[in-house]
Amino acid sequence: MCGIVGAVAQRNITPILLEGLKRLEYRGYDSCGVALHVDGKLQRSRSTSRVTELQAQIDQTGLAGFTGIAHTRWATHGVPSSANAHPHFSRERIALVHNGIIENHEELRTELSTAGYIFESQTDTEVIAHLIDHLYHGDLFEAVQQAVKRLSGAFAIAVFCRDEPHRVVGARLGSPLIVGVGKGENFIASDAMALAGTTDQIIYLEEGDVVDLQLQKCWIVDNQGKSVQREIRTVHAHSGAAELGPYRHYMQKEIFEQPRAIADTLENVTNIMPELFGDKAYGIFKEIDSVLILACGTSYYAGLTAKYWIESIAKIPVNVEIASEYRYRDSVPNPKSLVVTISQSGETADTLAALKHARNQGMLHTLTVCNVATSAMVRECELAYITHAGVEVGVASTKAFTTQLAALFLLALSLAQIKGRLNDEQEAGHIKAMRHLPVAISAVLALEPQIIAWAEQFAAKENALFLGRGLHYPIAMEGALKLKEISYIHAEAYPAGELKHGPLALVTKEMPVVTVAPNDTLIEKLKSNMQEVRARGGELYVFADADSHITASEGIHVIRLPEHYGLLSPILHTIPLQLLAYHTALARGTDVDKPRNLAKSVTVE
Ligand code: G6P
Repeated sequence: MCGIVGAVAQRNITPILLEGLKRLEYRGYDSCGVALHVDGKLQRSRSTSRVTELQAQIDQTGLAGFTGIAHTRWATHGVPSSANAHPHFSRERIALVHNGIIENHEELRTELSTAGYIFESQTDTEVIAHLIDHLYHGDLFEAVQQAVKRLSGAFAIAVFCRDEPHRVVGARLGSPLIVGVGKGENFIASDAMALAGTTDQIIYLEEGDVVDLQLQKCWIVDNQGKSVQREIRTVHAHSGAAELGPYRHYMQKEIFEQPRAIADTLENVTNIMPELFGDKAYGIFKEIDSVLILACGTSYYAGLTAKYWIESIAKIPVNVEIASEYRYRDSVPNPKSLVVTISQSGETADTLAALKHARNQGMLHTLTVCNVATSAMVRECELAYITHAGVEVGVASTKAFTTQLAALFLLALSLAQIKGRLNDEQEAGHIKAMRHLPVAISAVLALEPQIIAWAEQFAAKENALFLGRGLHYPIAMEGALKLKEISYIHAEAYPAGELKHGPLALVTKEMPVVTVAPNDTLIEKLKSNMQEVRARGGELYVFADADSHITASEGIHVIRLPEHYGLLSPILHTIPLQLLAYHTALARGTDVDKPRNLAKSVTVE
């Protein structure tokens, strides 16, 4: 998704801006650009290709300067093109980059066109540049404060002006923006990761803040225009461009990192206690009578799995909602509900807005399961469990998902304990099983060669069906999502019992049917559903486990996971589905880590 970097310094900042863009690349983008203050003029370079291409362009022109901004764009309004790429200029005086969506852009466009501004792009962003220019009377900070009052929607912006060579102004509302404080130089970015290696002194701007960055000055006003001090934190942001090592893609690397990621996520768990989720967790868990889970994408499927765990182990009712639906729905709030957001990035706009909506409805007990300790989600929730997956670069989430599952299983156990539904023996058994997970996952990863053989057959297909039941239905959904995201094969998941109510009509010998089939309480029912598929000529690709008693025969291909893992089996059964998607995509030659049209961190609605 879109990324911002900006700087005001006394040295050439082009390398800092380009390095920042490279660190933000993994989030997904379709064009990029840089603008600098050069000899009293604005100059820019834009590209619809990769950042390395932009760099080559800049190397040729020798674009250099002390003050400037840069951007990676993920198209929302207007196709990916040079004209639509940021930075946008207004009258060769204002340069601006923007993340987010301006909802009243049409109205502003009409107004500014009437005032004589000529629009060169189809973007919503260009109206902000012209609006600031329109309101500019010699003080950029003042003009930006006036302009943001006219904007509705979500934005993070960085702006500079031809007439004020040592100043960059930023503002945010609904999209993240941070300031990097340096010595005699200051920076701005959408994510601290963009500034890794440049400064670790970070200020997280709050909703409605406007910041004035000069060489020796970093001045912030809040949404009332009142001067405010924000805490400077030391943040050891990782570089997004982690080493690939022996792997071909980040996704492959991240799949294979899962034993380590799960071990790190569970590192401090010696026994089950609510305090794992924060100091106030004990009191909150005691008080709540239900759970509302809010999330998007893969994180939503983690939430669906958690519903099965929490309801069956802790006996607490759970609702799981897609954040973008929940935020606009008339729902019945329960102030005694624990609101749980699940997010890899902690910056997903819909999930943040859903959290805010729940709070506005009077649901004040909030917890997040999140992979980024410094994210908005963690800052805004009362309680948090940080998964230690490490930086996830591949757009398709893998290790973030399985670590979320591990954290959510712990949540189910902690709630069960508080409600008196977990005895010591059960607790010890669960802890033992969790401790063994890294070894069990490694054994599943060793099945890769068998999965590659299946992937070669899948690569020729255009459709696939995924089946699961109970706890493994959300895992089937996650498997289908992985396959469609990176191989572009149309895939959908069904609870196997629902097959006869529609999808069976699609089953022919051309339709591979992936079945998640551990030996759980529904295995016999699932076997009947598999027979329904076979009777229609469908080819079954079954991920069974040590106890499933399913043997390969004509039209039934079986890969057996080495262990049966009971309640934690969803974590193990996710792994082969990730590998199947990865190797199918590889065989089809797609851009695995940056699938078309998708972004890693979706910071717009
Ligand atoms: C995007 C990513 C997905 C992710 C989803 C939610 O769609 O491509 O991998 O699951 O956003 O992101 P979050 O950071 O909130 O988990």
